[in-house]
Amino acid sequence: MELSQFEGLTLGIESSCDDTSLCVLRGSSEILCLKRVSQANLHAEFGGVVPEIAARGHLEAIFPLLREVLLESSVQLSDIDLFAATAGPGLIGSLLVGFHMGKTLALMSQKPFVAVHHLEAHFCANFLEQEVLFPAVGLLVSGGHSSLYFLREQGIYELMGESRDDAVGEVYDKVGRELGLGVNAGPLVDKIASSIKDKCALEFTPPMLHSKDFDFSFSGLKTAALKACRDGYNKEDICCALQNAVVEVLLKKTIAAQKETRAKSIVLAGGVAANSGLRNAFSKASQQGRFVLSVPSLRLCTDNGAMVARAGLERYLRYGADSLHTQAFSRFPLHNYKDFRQ
Ligand code: KG4
Ligand code: ZN
Repeated sequence: MELSQFEGLTLGIESSCDDTSLCVLRGSSEILCLKRVSQANLHAEFGGVVPEIAARGHLEAIFPLLREVLLESSVQLSDIDLFAATAGPGLIGSLLVGFHMGKTLALMSQKPFVAVHHLEAHFCANFLEQEVLFPAVGLLVSGGHSSLYFLREQGIYELMGESRDDAVGEVYDKVGRELGLGVNAGPLVDKIASSIKDKCALEFTPPMLHSKDFDFSFSGLKTAALKACRDGYNKEDICCALQNAVVEVLLKKTIAAQKETRAKSIVLAGGVAANSGLRNAFSKASQQGRFVLSVPSLRLCTDNGAMVARAGLERYLRYGADSLHTQAFSRFPLHNYKDFRQ
C-alpha cells in the first residue's frame, strides 16, 4: 500500500532517554494527539540523566499518558491499527519500558508491531510536515549524536562524518549546567545567546573548521567554554560565543557535504535542530544557495512519539511487521541500518 492511501491509526511510543512521549497518528501525517512528559525535575539534583531513575520515571508516566492520548484523540485502544516503539539507540532501561509496552499492546490487540530506529525517527519528523527532496544531506544533532548522512533516497543512510568525541547537545547541556541553568539547558543557552544583539565580547575557535573531512569535534570547545565560566566571563558572552562557534562549523561542513554530493536538499534533525542560531543560519544559506532546507517545527525536533509513529508506519508499509521477538539495543548505528531483526 502507498503511504498516502493509508488511513489507519498508528500509536508511536518514545522512551529512549528522559522524555516519555506518545502520539496517535491518523494516516501518514495527521497528529491527533501528541503528549510528552519530561523528567527534567527528576534528574535536576544529580546534574544529568540517571539511567535507573529514568527507567522508573518512564514506568510511572507511560500508562497515564496512554490513557490521555487515547482520550484526547477520541479513540479506543482497539481502534489502533499499528504499534510503533523506539528500539534503540538509547538508555536500555528506558528503551525497554516503551518497547515492551508497544509489543504488549500489539499482542493484546492482535495488531502489527514495528521496532523503530530513534535516529531514523528524527529524520522522519521532517516527513510529517513537508515533502523532502532526495538525494539529501542530513545533519543529525542531538544530546547523543552529531552526524552527517547522505540520504540517497528515503530509508538509505550513508554516514559521511560524525563527532569524534562529544555531541553538540551534550556540550550545550554541560555548559548550561556550569552556568547554573539546570539540566537539559540547551534551549536556555540558546535563548541567552540570541538575546545578544551587538557583537559578542568573547570568541571561541570553531573546531575542525578547516579539516577536509566531514567529522566534528566538540570536546575542546566544551573545555574552553567551561574554563570561561570558571574564569568569570559573563553568561551572555559565553552562550553567544559557544553558539557562534557551533553554528559556523555545522553550517560550513553541511554545505560542503551538500556541494560534494550535489544533494538537492539539506535536512536538519534532532533536538539541537530547535536551536534558533542554527535554524536562522541554514535558512539564510538556503535562500542564497542551491538547496532546499527541510527542518521540523520546534515541537517535533526533540524526542517525540509522532516521529516514531511516522517512522514505524514507513517501515511497516515497506517491510511489514516485526516479530515480537525483536530486541531493543542501546547502541545501533543508523549507517547501513536495515532492521532490528538480528
Ligand atoms: O533529540 P533529543 O530530544 O534527545 C536525544 O536524542 O539526545 O535532543 C536533546 C538535546 C539536549 O541536549 C538539549 O539540550 C538539546 O537537544 N536542545 C537544544 C535546543 N533544544 C534542545 N540545544 C541547543 N539549542 C536548543 N534550542
Ligand atoms: Zn533524540
